[in-house]
Amino acid sequence: MKITLSLIKADIGSIGGHTKPSDDMMKAAKKSVAKAVKDGLLIDGFVFHTGDDIALLMSHTHGSDNPEIHTFAWDTFIKATEYADECGCYGAGQDLLVDAPSANLRGAGPGVAEITFDFNRKEPRPAESFMIFAADKCGPGAYNLPLYLTFSDPMYCAGLMLPKMMKGFSFTIIDMEHKGADSIIELNAPEDIYKMAILLRDNERFGIKAIKSRMYDEQCVSVSTDRLHTIAGKYTGKDDPVALIRNQGIFPAPEEVVSPYVKVHYVGGGARGSHNMPLMPVKMNTAITGIYCLPIVSCLGFSLNKKGGFSDFYVDFFDNPAWDYVRLKAQQKAIEIRSQGFSGPAMLPYQELEYSGFRDSMEDLFKQFKIVKKD
Ligand code: 13P
Ligand code: MG
Ligand code: MG
Repeated sequence: MKITLSLIKADIGSIGGHTKPSDDMMKAAKKSVAKAVKDGLLIDGFVFHTGDDIALLMSHTHGSDNPEIHTFAWDTFIKATEYADECGCYGAGQDLLVDAPSANLRGAGPGVAEITFDFNRKEPRPAESFMIFAADKCGPGAYNLPLYLTFSDPMYCAGLMLPKMMKGFSFTIIDMEHKGADSIIELNAPEDIYKMAILLRDNERFGIKAIKSRMYDEQCVSVSTDRLHTIAGKYTGKDDPVALIRNQGIFPAPEEVVSPYVKVHYVGGGARGSHNMPLMPVKMNTAITGIYCLPIVSCLGFSLNKKGGFSDFYVDFFDNPAWDYVRLKAQQKAIEIRSQGFSGPAMLPYQELEYSGFRDSMEDLFKQFKIVKKD
């Protein structure tokens, strides 16, 4: 049988500022997902939040881009938004950018990552294990560097030297500034890695959308790559992407997937979505309460049981003392870059501020410039 994993997220409001959703919002989303499992639309479902973004993880047999699943996710976000509205939460319904979406949520605001695959518990996938990532206060290119390192560099992923992975992986990279239909390019690791680097250098414009095993022609990665400002034409909040990654066996192991996060690399985001800040790994359901509004990322692991449902529990990868050291490193890097305030690389370049209020402030000043003749 074919199983689809759908990971769909939205920021639909949060308490005390852009920190975390309220308990009532979470309850409403969980109730909606539990009902969909009971009614048979979903095989299984799981709801959690990272900062102020609620993510719905669903397994089902309806395929990717399925109208019923996307409509269900939208309706679930609408239900939770009612509670956000009721309690006066900040940014109620923030990522729901259209009045009523067409059958597909892509282009409507919520972030979507989906993979459909054969599920038969036979070789090459006798067991199906996967990880989900959810990030807050950052753009959709936040996963570019970690994914590039895991899927193309044996310095980070020794598994790439094994026969099952030696042929490499093919990357689908999307131009996230392109409006309407997707503008994508396929590049192969290892032979195209310099070409990949020239694109992935720019996390604000280009994003890894999907990765496939070249040997088995199996998709193992899907990332939500829609940019809210490309849809809305203005800054409405940061994109805060999610990613699905199948792991083990013919794909990298979880430790190879998480190891690049030790870098706490700088990503676009932070306060007002306008700074360069390190990405801090955190446990599930962490609120944004730290200084500087650090971008955060959480990572959970699941296995699929015989019915295509989730194992009775999940593993929270970043909820481990090993990551405390990494979190401190992130804080130190944040303090360093923020010590220069607004100056130079501490803030994002003009084109990234283009859609926000910063642009209005600058436009106003541009008008006051005068051309003076040289003597
Ligand atoms: P969110 O997109 O998570 O709401 O964050 C927006 C922001 O501007 C933070 O300062
Ligand atoms: Mg928010
Ligand atoms: Mg958010």
